[in-house]
Amino acid sequence: MKAIKKITCIGAGYVGGPTMSVIAQKNPDIAVTVVDLNQARIAAWNDADLNNLPVYEPGLDAVVGEARGRNLFFDTDVDKAIREADMIFISVNTPTKTYGKGKGQAADLKFVELCARQIAAVATDDKIVVEKSTLPVRTAEALKNILENTGNGVNFRILSNPEFLAEGTAVTDLHNPDRVLIGGEDEEAIEALVNVYAAWVPRERILTTNLWSSELSKLVANAFLAQRVSSINAISELCEVTGANVDEVSRAIGQDSRIGPKFLKASVGFGGSCFQKDILNLVYIARSYNLTAVADYWEQVIIMNDHQKTRFAEKIIQTMYNTVNGKHIAFLGWAFKKDTNDTRESAAIYVADHLLDEEAEIVVYDPKVSAEQIYKDLDYLGSRSPEDNRRLLKVVDNPYEALAGAHAAAVLTEWDEFKAYDWAKIKEGMKRPSFVFDGRKLLDKKELNRLGFAYYAIGE
Ligand code: NAD
Ligand code: UGA
Repeated sequence: MKAIKKITCIGAGYVGGPTMSVIAQKNPDIAVTVVDLNQARIAAWNDADLNNLPVYEPGLDAVVGEARGRNLFFDTDVDKAIREADMIFISVNTPTKTYGKGKGQAADLKFVELCARQIAAVATDDKIVVEKSTLPVRTAEALKNILENTGNGVNFRILSNPEFLAEGTAVTDLHNPDRVLIGGEDEEAIEALVNVYAAWVPRERILTTNLWSSELSKLVANAFLAQRVSSINAISELCEVTGANVDEVSRAIGQDSRIGPKFLKASVGFGGSCFQKDILNLVYIARSYNLTAVADYWEQVIIMNDHQKTRFAEKIIQTMYNTVNGKHIAFLGWAFKKDTNDTRESAAIYVADHLLDEEAEIVVYDPKVSAEQIYKDLDYLGSRSPEDNRRLLKVVDNPYEALAGAHAAAVLTEWDEFKAYDWAKIKEGMKRPSFVFDGRKLLDKKELNRLGFAYYAIGE
């Protein structure tokens, strides 16, 4: 099989953009084109000012700066990019279905299917088609059917190559992955993709499996990670009533090499575009095979996560004498974790919604999230009118402004800068008693208590 010379990626989002940027950076001989229907997104990827890239990830500006225009291109002409490519990655969104059968659980594959149909319609020579999006197990079968039945007699070989990067650390994860997973049936096609990654990933970290193991492993990896967070969050509630401290428990159990220290940080609940979506999908698949016990087992991870978000909001209300009506609560952070501008499924959205139902007045500061995005997240829930969301919740671009005159501060995202604030000065400007609710166990409890704050953290 001839070496891959041209790669196209359909979908210039959080996965397609960074992943293809690194592939291009490490393979200067391969021309990589990332295409998207969203013109504004492509324009932002092409922005001369690298601070304006549509995805904020530490180190991404340098990677794009190095490869863009050399062998990395962002474009809106999907047909042309399909026609010219030897290998096509599908990296479009696969959200939870919001309608019809499987509503609220199954993955919506309409965007993936549209890509397959477009590839089938446009391609005039053989292609390797790579599933980069996270997909239900056995999707490759459907893709193959679509490609073969509507194509122009072109030979399509399908691979599964799920992505394991985490947001906020995407560039280091891509540069130094624990493993790259490639599932497929065709040895030549597998080898072609292995060679792309072998430009920088040691061979022993490139795992090859059959298609179904690869597709399923992606869902299972996310389910196991999320399960650890829900497990420690469940224990955080027990800590609060028994006098144990959840950080100490995490450390004590994480030292056991069989358990390991990662993903044991109690929080206000996991967010992000994938954990919930992928577990719901796993649950749906298990139910569709009538595996009720399996489905119920994994569903509990989501139930626990919802409980944690509600519990945090309730804790705020209860502690503030059972009413937050008209009270000013400063939200520090809106993103679902630090070092990203992504807010999808962020716990902050649900905590805010709960407090707004009680007519709290929220002022949000997040170093990377825009006011427009925050209102979009709230309006999407449809809990109250857009006017009421804007009346009750304000967004500011200075943390001290958010905190001035506040009854309480709530830490929703673990941004490092929150630790470095002048908390003595903040205390002077806040109402008394001055409450701090730390949903990330981020701040220095001793120091805040010394300054006279009433400090509450998850899990202690
Ligand atoms: P995203 O929404 O950020 O990006 C998807 C892009 O695809 C959008 O810009 C959209 O306009 C584009 N698109 C949709 N249909 C298209 C079409 N027919 N033609 C051209 N462009 C089209 O999504 P994402 O976060 O990059 O996730 C993509 C996939 O990767 C999902 O399946 C997700 O589960 C998976 N994943 C995401 C992450 C993550 O950290 N976000 C990590 C691993 C895997
Ligand atoms: C996660 C996985 O870590 C990636 O491997 C995967 O590729 C990706 O999902 C995906 O498929 O989209 P991501 O959601 O970007 O990555 O970020 P994580 O670091 O996993 O954090 C997810 C959520 O869990 C965040 O809200 C985070 O704050 C929370 N979390 C994480 C905790 O509350 N405690 C922890 O100990 C770890």
